[in-house]
This record gives sequence, C-alpha cells and structure tokens, in this order.
Amino acid sequence: MCGIVGIASRTPFSASMLLGRLKRLEYRGYDSFGYYDGREIKKHVGNIRVEGRGLTRTGISHTRWATHGGVTEPNAHPHAACDRSVVAVHNGIIENFEDLKRVLVRKGHRFASETDSEVISHFVEEGLKTKPIRSVLADLMKSISGTFAALIMLEGRNEIYAVKRDSPLVLGVSKDLTVVASDIYAFSDLTTEAAFFENDEIAEITAGGYAFFDGRGRAVAKPLRKFDLQPEPALRRAHKHYMLKEILEEPAAVDRLLFSLANDQKPEFDELIRLMRRAKKIIFASCGTSYHASLLGAYFLHRVGVENQTLIASEFRHFANVDRDTLVLALSQSGETMDVIDSLNYARECGGRLVSLVNVPYSTIQRMSGLSLNLLAGQEVCVASTKAFVSQAAFMLRIAQEFGFRVNLANLADRIRGLLRKREQIRGIAETFAPARDLYVIGRGLTYPVAREIALKIKEISYIHAEGMMGGELKHGTIALIEKGTPVISVINTNDPDIISNTKEVEARGAVTIPITNNPAVWRRPRAVAVRTDNDGKFGILAAVAGQLMAYYAADKLGRPIDKPRNLAKSVTVK
Ligand code: AGP
Repeated sequence: MCGIVGIASRTPFSASMLLGRLKRLEYRGYDSFGYYDGREIKKHVGNIRVEGRGLTRTGISHTRWATHGGVTEPNAHPHAACDRSVVAVHNGIIENFEDLKRVLVRKGHRFASETDSEVISHFVEEGLKTKPIRSVLADLMKSISGTFAALIMLEGRNEIYAVKRDSPLVLGVSKDLTVVASDIYAFSDLTTEAAFFENDEIAEITAGGYAFFDGRGRAVAKPLRKFDLQPEPALRRAHKHYMLKEILEEPAAVDRLLFSLANDQKPEFDELIRLMRRAKKIIFASCGTSYHASLLGAYFLHRVGVENQTLIASEFRHFANVDRDTLVLALSQSGETMDVIDSLNYARECGGRLVSLVNVPYSTIQRMSGLSLNLLAGQEVCVASTKAFVSQAAFMLRIAQEFGFRVNLANLADRIRGLLRKREQIRGIAETFAPARDLYVIGRGLTYPVAREIALKIKEISYIHAEGMMGGELKHGTIALIEKGTPVISVINTNDPDIISNTKEVEARGAVTIPITNNPAVWRRPRAVAVRTDNDGKFGILAAVAGQLMAYYAADKLGRPIDKPRNLAKSVTVK
C-alpha cells in the first residue's frame, strides 16, 4: 500500500507543499518517499521529511510501502522512463509487470528499479512514439492486469495524467489549484470539494481544472461533491504520540456519533434498522480491529435474538452464503480495505444488499454501498486503530439497543473519560508486562472479542507476541504454554464464573494475571484494572479502552515507533 499526491497550481509552490500533503498519507506507507517537480526527481529512504525549496507549478509525489523490490532509493517512486520524458508514481500491484517489462526490454528500454510500477513510465514513453497521450493511457489500462492509481507527468508539460482501477484516487479543487491524492485527508485543509474516480477512468489535471475520460476516450461528466470533515488538529501537539491523542479523543468521538445517529444521520440509521429487520440473513464483513468491533456487535445482537454472522473479509467468499435476502454490513475505518471491497463485490454478485459504516467519507466502500453511515471518529493518524474501534463498538451497541439490548448510552462517553483518568495506574501495570516475550489475553462471550482486540493492539504496537483467545479454549492446547511468570490479561465480566475459573487455571500454572474487570470482588487484587459499569455492553467497550492504554504504555516503555508500527498498515488496500 502506498500514498500518492499530485498538485497543479496557478501559483508556484515548493516541494514542502507537496510533501506536506503526502505526510497526511503517511499511514498508507512510510518506508521511502519521493517527488518530481517537473525538473528533478528526489527520492529518500525513511520517513517523509517536509522540506524542499525550488518552486514549481506541477508536481507528483509518493510514499511507499514496499511490495515489489526492497526498501531502496532506486525502488522509491517516482520512476522515470529511459529519457526521463515520462515520470510516474503508482499505488497498487501490476500483476503482469514481468510480461510487460519483457516486451519493453526487447524494445530497448532499460529499467532502473525492481518495482512493478516502473513499467508505467516506460510503457507511456514507448506509446508516445506513435500515439497521443490519451490513447496511450487507454492502451495502458487495457494492458495492465492488477490494480493501480497512477499519476503521470510528461517533461515540459504542466498537466498531470491520472489513471485508476481499484486503488483509491480522488481529486480536490480549490481556487488556485487542483490536487489529486489517494484520499481526501491529503487535502482536506485546502478544499471541501472533491471528485471521485471510478474504475478505469483517466483524468487530465491542470491548475485550472480537470477532464475525465473513460477507457475509450469518451468524456465523463464528473461533478464536484462537497465533503465535510471534522476539523482535525494538524499536530499531535500536547501528546507524545498520535495513538495517545486518539485514545483521549474517544469520549468526544462517541458523543459525536451518538448525537449524529439521533439527529442528522437519523434517517439513514432508521433505514438501516428497517433493512436489518427485513433481512433474512445479516452478515458483517470486516478486517482486523473493525472485525473485532463487528464480533462484539454479533454478540450484542445474539443476546437480543437477532440472528447474524460476522466474517473476516478475506475469508468472506469461502464462508458466506449470500442471496437476495441477505444484508451485508461492512465495517471499515478507512473505507478502502481491499478484502472488504472484494467481499462486497462478491456479495453484490450474489444479489445481496450492501450497507456500510466507514470513517472516511466518500471512500470506495461507502460509494459501493446502497446505504452507508459515517462513523465521524475524525482522522486516525496512528496506524493502530483506537477511537474508530470504540465508535464502531458504540454503533453496534446502539443498533442492539434498537432490538432490545438494555443500555444507557448517554453516559458512555463519561464512563470512558473516567477510565482514561486511570491511565497512570494502567501505565504502571503495562510496564510490568512490557519485558515479556509472550502474553495471553483471555475472555469469554462478550469479552472474547475484547481479548482479541487487546492482543492485536499489543502485537501491533509493542511487538510482544500476544494471543487473544476464548478462555474455554485454553485447556484444548494453549495452556501448555503458560509457565511461571507468563502474563495473562483476563477480561472478567461481573460474576462470569467461567472466566474466573480460567483465570485460576492459568494462575495455578504460575501465570501473572492482569484482570480487567467490572467485578468489585476482583478490584483489590494486584494489577487489577477496575472498570465501573454494571452494564456488560458498556463494559466490553471500556475494557477494550483499558487494553488500548496497556498496549500503548507497554510500547512506550519499550521505545517502539508507536504511530507507525512495522509490518502493518492502517487500511489494507494491498493490491
Ligand atoms: C488495527 O489497529 C489495524 N490497523 C488493522 O487491523 C485495521 O483495523 C484493519 O486493517 C482494517 O482496516 P479498516 O477498518 O480501515 O477496514
């Protein structure tokens, strides 16, 4: 996964303007970056540094998450053709690049990188020998199999050409400039008007505007749409990391969502409930943290007798039976996760009805859904999803409430605030397990999804091997790994005797247990995190917040690069 940004402006701008936009996409990839300003290509390995003087009116840039070829300067984008007359940046994977490259090499092209992306600039260079640019781009789209959002510049010209299939691409327009990027966050401080690319579209972008074409060169009307993002502070300012800042924003995010569901998004929310009541089958589709939120929702709904199933999107087509009476509800922070998009495509082919909840307005998942609601959690900069999870879980609880789940959501934000005030105590606990190599998180029923989510956060941020599992499964094998001193976080809901007995089981084998619990009888135990609520729906959410803080403080103690953990991406548009 990578991020791309291009700007065409009436007034000159410096590279730092381009890189400032790119920095907002750093969550999409951050092993190397580069830009082209019409004169020279600059590439660097490492995090984006917002610097660069020389003025230009047109430029393209790229932040990379390596897939084809190691993390090196030659592999960083942009990639130039042999005579540097064509320069391109690309997000996606060109599956047939080896075939295309072979043909181009036979025609005399010399490649400078190991990437699949470099074929784009050579292909265009070759095509321009005989055809105009628009036909060359149409040929390019026909020839590539795979996914792409690519920006192309021709030497000496002030246009940017864009092509897209499956990888996200959006265009923003302000008075003086046109900007094209992987998502609207890249330019949400510059404009509130955007045009969204559909698959197999080509755009010609200039400072004065844009023109869209389909693969046959026919003009496509593309109206601008207004978008409204919550103002996001550009800097994490008072907080050491975005992750902590975003956890602390959870109460506000929850309040905003619940207010919106009762006011501006009420018609959509009512429609969702109506569709759920009518559907013969309800299936959730999501990945990672969003999957854990949907699993929590599946539990809430089962408690009130609503049959439903939740599937990890990458396995969706293998386990889902979708038909015309099936409602498929996708949960995604980014709205761009390729596995979720694939499941929705599959569900649509089977005749299912698509609905979604996303945090990024106008994202691909939102646009492909018949009905889509906004999570309104505000931008998540940290790769580890925290406030989006809490808002997703609150949304699930709100849905379950419609079906009879008893919960007072009015004080949920306050309860989260109360827990956040305990963060120094939680830091102390996290620092005790930070040196561990392996750790287990156990839960049952309501607390099983929470255990999975806490373990994911710990793995992702602290790089401690953490397994989140059903307490009941311990005895079927995993208990063999519990030895003297193994930390086990146990998420204990009130008087659930089963999880209490699982906790005793691991203690009997020498585990150091860390209870997160709303059971007052356990609060006095060493390392216990007391969660004050007797509603188990809210307990699930609050326990996850305690786990997020544990993951954060353990990682901080270990000096991990918290906002950008290695090997994991925020939204997995990996193709
Ligand atoms: C969570 O911390 C991760 N970054 C990851 O599991 C994420 O939740 C997953 O990739 C799904 O992303 P989405 O919500 O944007 O679809």
